[in-house]
Amino acid sequence: MTVIRGATTIAEDQPEEIRKAVGELLEQIESRNQLKRDEILSIVFSSTSDIHSFYPAKAAREAGFASCSLFSAQEPEIDGSLALCIRVMLFVEKNITPHHVYLRGARALRKDLAQKFNVAIDGPAGSGKSTIAKMLAHDQNILYLDTGAMYRACALAAIRAGIDVSDEAQVCDLMRNVALSVTYENGTQHTLLNGEDVSGSIRDRDVSMAASTISKHESVRMKMAEKQREIAGKMSCVLDGRDIGTFVLPDADFKFFLTASPEVRAKRRYDELVAKGYTVDFEDLKREIALRDEQDSTRPIAPLKKAEDAVLIDTSDMTIEQVLQTIKTKMQEKI
Ligand code: DC
Repeated sequence: MTVIRGATTIAEDQPEEIRKAVGELLEQIESRNQLKRDEILSIVFSSTSDIHSFYPAKAAREAGFASCSLFSAQEPEIDGSLALCIRVMLFVEKNITPHHVYLRGARALRKDLAQKFNVAIDGPAGSGKSTIAKMLAHDQNILYLDTGAMYRACALAAIRAGIDVSDEAQVCDLMRNVALSVTYENGTQHTLLNGEDVSGSIRDRDVSMAASTISKHESVRMKMAEKQREIAGKMSCVLDGRDIGTFVLPDADFKFFLTASPEVRAKRRYDELVAKGYTVDFEDLKREIALRDEQDSTRPIAPLKKAEDAVLIDTSDMTIEQVLQTIKTKMQEKI
């Protein structure tokens, strides 16, 4: 499912104005997202409290949105909100990259909702951060940036080139000649190495360990952090990693540090690998994770560490839904 947002303003609280503005807004959303009417599951409107004369949902029904469910709500007064503003959320059946539509000066929506924001989720391997980061990004309809994938891609490049990943000079040389990029398709990150999609191969176990080793090098970290800051500077996103809250984005709007007992983390990774068809020895995996923890937390540059202002969540005995809910509640409290 995809959620598409939009907003418009009206000059006066008059039924005809509302009909016209809602019709125009929905038409634009449909055409910019190439939607067919029967793909729209429901449409939810909210309007500022200075609009009473007509329900936007009724305007949508009159404009021919006959088969989807419609709902209108009135917003409470919020400081900084635009006057006479109608906002909409369309729930669409298919998965697409949404094109949100803002008309008639409605670019700045409610101040508390409209700002670009970044969420930093750091933590050790198996703490649940990537699962949660993905879900949170989907929930907030913003980008998910998996920074570990970037280190993994560097490591894969080094392995393929037969380079010793612990040798910074050799790695640095290699990095000058590889093109690393991330792209998004239907909200899913693809990691590209010299144009090749390596999203699958970077998950191999030998790559995990090599990524941890390669991430110790200052030159690699600086390059990765620069790319990450560039992406986060342009758009709202959830970033997961080891050093997002402490080093990459020390001013991130929301910071979380997820952790879990070593036993639980190893079990999660074990289940993940077994589900992918690998044969793994649990004790071996536990040792590998402990080694990675040690390496990631003791490196001199931007080690794995909770930022002072990050919210610590121990996920050992929590379900994914509970962790997600805790994060959303904390974010709401901070707005
Ligand atoms: O999150 P992950 O398991 O995909 O990360 C792989 C390795 O990359 C991890 O052991 C340490 C390194 N890493 C890092 O140093 N900083 C980040 N922001 C993300 C990952």
